[in-house]
Amino acid sequence: MDNNPNITVTNEWDIVVARQTGRDLAKSLGFGEVDQARITTAISELARNIYLYAKTGKIELRKASEGDKVGIQIISRDNGPGIKDVMKALEDGYSTSGGLGAGLPGVKRLMDEFTIETSEGKGTMISATKWKVL
Ligand SMILES: Nc1ncnc2c1ncn2[C@@H]1O[C@H](COP(=O)(O)OP(=O)(O)OP(=O)(O)O)[C@@H](O)[C@H]1O
Ligand SMILES: [Mg+2]
Repeated sequence: MDNNPNITVTNEWDIVVARQTGRDLAKSLGFGEVDQARITTAISELARNIYLYAKTGKIELRKASEGDKVGIQIISRDNGPGIKDVMKALEDGYSTSGGLGAGLPGVKRLMDEFTIETSEGKGTMISATKWKVL
């Protein structure tokens, strides 16, 4: 399979495609089923946020490596409104849309590395990496 799949997210079906593509890549990298579930959940939440808040954006999936470690990196990019208060957005229960506010804190918990760059009016880039347990 393509080792660097990019999925443009503009509708709900694209969220399903991103999930499935992520599951396939995680499987091909040797992640077990529990980690595959964590990774696909993280992809779903990031893709759903793109769809809800930015309307359109991209999910990029990458094989990650560092020394002997192998992992998967999920990069979410959009040119949407950005996040006003990032610290709050990473807290459980904070939502500007009447949601549960569980998405971003969940992604942070499910993955090993998490970085977010956002700028009001310009967009948001979130990177989340999961390493395979050796
Ligand atoms: N890509 C994005 N662009 C702009 N704002 C975002 C983006 N992703 C998240 N946010 C903001 O961060 C808040 C928290 O996101 P989070 O995914 O944690 O919760 P939620 O989407 O509101 O609810 P849930 O994901 O639990 O259904 C959102 O309510 C929204 O204001
Ligand atoms: Mg969300």
